[in-house]
Amino acid sequence: MTSRVPVVGGNWKMNLDLASAAELADDIVAGLGASELQCDVMLFPPFPYLHTVGKILGHHAVLLGAQNVWTEANGAYTGEVSTSMLHDLATTVVLVGHSERRHVIGEDDALVARKVRAALAADLRVVLCVGETLDQRHAGQTETVVLGQIRSGLSDVTVPEMARVVIAYEPVWAIGTGATATPEDAQAVHASIRAWISDRFGAATGAATRIQYGGSVTPRNAAELFAQPDIDGGLIGGASLKADAFLAIVRAAISTP
Ligand code: PGA
Repeated sequence: MTSRVPVVGGNWKMNLDLASAAELADDIVAGLGASELQCDVMLFPPFPYLHTVGKILGHHAVLLGAQNVWTEANGAYTGEVSTSMLHDLATTVVLVGHSERRHVIGEDDALVARKVRAALAADLRVVLCVGETLDQRHAGQTETVVLGQIRSGLSDVTVPEMARVVIAYEPVWAIGTGATATPEDAQAVHASIRAWISDRFGAATGAATRIQYGGSVTPRNAAELFAQPDIDGGLIGGASLKADAFLAIVRAAISTP
């Protein structure tokens, strides 16, 4: 049994159009009902749809999230978006270090750490994403890679700030591939992450920090993953684009002890 409130995020990536984003947000809000009280639900639409989706979320307890943020408050950073711009749109949480930002766009650990710093300093919540590639897993480097990313990403974070941090463990090879980690393999990594956080920030912070699993989570496999003692919900890509599937995953997080 865990006393941690589960957290389920919908990462819409660079998908949908304005009308379908609004419809999806509408359907999710309508489908959540009272269940939103037992699970933190976060939606991460593309930047151009934040305003519209934020208006739909309105007074509902669903958190509006951004998929990325820049490190500086303002200035000559063409194409980037600052924390204050996110605040203007009532965004309260940001994804940092997503696998696609690291491996497709080329963000390194140092930049990820600066983004974590900037977001926390601006009173945002952070979902820090970490995960190993298939080659790294085959080479037996999973723990080294994942804990290295965590150590770097959280290097300047304080104990009080950790209350606004969620970790998302997302093996790169499982994202968008249909190849989910087994619940046991995911649990082993989550346990190592929690042990590291307890070591670095103290046992209370280790026990309180939510660690999501991400990578091909679906309504079929969600309950089994969420039943693991150190898995506190999921970060959902593909399955978050369909309201029914996403709501089923939220329900799995709520009903799994
Ligand atoms: P997926 O994506 O659920 O489509 O594998 C997860 C993610 O990238 O956060």
